[in-house]
Amino acid sequence: MTKVIKNGTIVTADLTYKADVLIDGGKIIEIGPNLKGDEELDATGCYVMPGGIDPHTHLEMPFMGTYSTDDFESGTRAALSGGTTMVVDFALPAPGQGLHDALQMWDNKSGRANCDYSFHMAVTWWGEQVFNEMESVVKDRGINTFKHFMAYKGALMVNDDEMYASFSRLASLGAIAMVHAENGDVVAELSAKLLAEGNTGPEAHAYSRPPQVEGEAANRAIMIADMTGVPLYIVHVSCEEAHEAIRRARMQGKRVWGEPLIQHLTLDESEYFNKDWDHAARRVMSPPFRNKQHQDSLWAGLQSGSLSVVATDHCAFTTEQKRYGVGDFTKIPNGTGGLEDRMPMLWTHGVATGRLTMNEFVAVTSTNIAKVLNCYPRKGAVLVGADADLVVWDPEKSKTITAGAQQSAIDYNVFEGKEVKGLPRFTLTRGHVAIHDGEVRTQEGHGKFVKREPNTPTNKALSKWKELTAPRPVERTGIPATGV
Ligand code: URP
Ligand code: ZN
Ligand code: ZN
Ligand code: ZN
Repeated sequence: MTKVIKNGTIVTADLTYKADVLIDGGKIIEIGPNLKGDEELDATGCYVMPGGIDPHTHLEMPFMGTYSTDDFESGTRAALSGGTTMVVDFALPAPGQGLHDALQMWDNKSGRANCDYSFHMAVTWWGEQVFNEMESVVKDRGINTFKHFMAYKGALMVNDDEMYASFSRLASLGAIAMVHAENGDVVAELSAKLLAEGNTGPEAHAYSRPPQVEGEAANRAIMIADMTGVPLYIVHVSCEEAHEAIRRARMQGKRVWGEPLIQHLTLDESEYFNKDWDHAARRVMSPPFRNKQHQDSLWAGLQSGSLSVVATDHCAFTTEQKRYGVGDFTKIPNGTGGLEDRMPMLWTHGVATGRLTMNEFVAVTSTNIAKVLNCYPRKGAVLVGADADLVVWDPEKSKTITAGAQQSAIDYNVFEGKEVKGLPRFTLTRGHVAIHDGEVRTQEGHGKFVKREPNTPTNKALSKWKELTAPRPVERTGIPATGV
């Protein structure tokens, strides 16, 4: 049974043109004029784009004494309703737990996914077991990205020696290192000081994580990556200080990518000064929302290409869970939702405002991500042979975002009340129409795991001058006497 998307305009990361798309067996089998299929989807007035890929989610993740509320079912349903057809979730070993053990937990949870998904591996501790297991995680499981938390001291944080060892190992395996860049030691100091001074409310979360802690960590991670040659992906870039470090590294020819979130692009620090405790706490995430200057920097990065992708870091907690932190902001579970709103919010605030072209929109929500994570062109493309993960985007369709109408399982939405114009008419996951004019037709368990092979070369200069930095004892004749 074939399907054809008719009368639409195809928009990819580099082309805009009118053509129909014929689908069979979950794949695109033909692109061209006047195609016929068993079932027709009318795309008149719409753009036919690669479905979004969210490279950063935390579904049903154990974190800060609880579990993030959206699981692989509600999370991927939310994703599809907003035009996202693939998520990449972080498999998170508890400190001391093996990598394959943690992956088993993620395999069990992800069986309910409505759309395709992949995993990044988190490196939450370091030891021989992690070193050994990394090889099979990369080669057998097809996971080529490993995240290191430079924050969350006493829980998930890894130190510089551990990061250096892990980055070196990843470089030898052809994998990519990722970092949550915040100086966890300084955050811990500032948090203790704020609490001792009686600053217990959610606004203190923002004071405890100023842009400098992010900029310092981003610079440090870039330097450690450079010493080991590993390509580096910096998640949730929220400020000019981190962006500046990424710009500089890229100008120097280093493979470093920066990932801003839709939340940091569109919400600012004033959210934390709302008089309603719940309002502020619901927006507590790390790094926190910043001021308009930082937002401008992130938009400029997307325009110039110094920042490569837009994610959500979807890690959704209910109001009840957020209230674990009443009286102590450090106990508010860190994280916000956004899976459902990333594409409409970025279209509304990016494309409709003239900040981004439609092609740039496709690049930063899908194609660039597929390329960096190495699942292109199976994902992130409108090409014959690619998976039919597509969104038929209606630029005239609008709505007001409200928690009451969302797919996410939490009881609020950080974008509540925001108007968006630009929404899916259809979202297709491997050819299955999961969203049909606002109607949800997802199939629990339809999603499949996407393997991603390592293919990113380490950062190498062509000359051999670097060999001079390899330690080589110099043989000397005139050795002075010691102990004089
Ligand atoms: O606050 C956040 N970002 N929570 C999710 C975990 C992480 O740090 O990515
Ligand atoms: Zn993080
Ligand atoms: Zn995250
Ligand atoms: Zn179907």
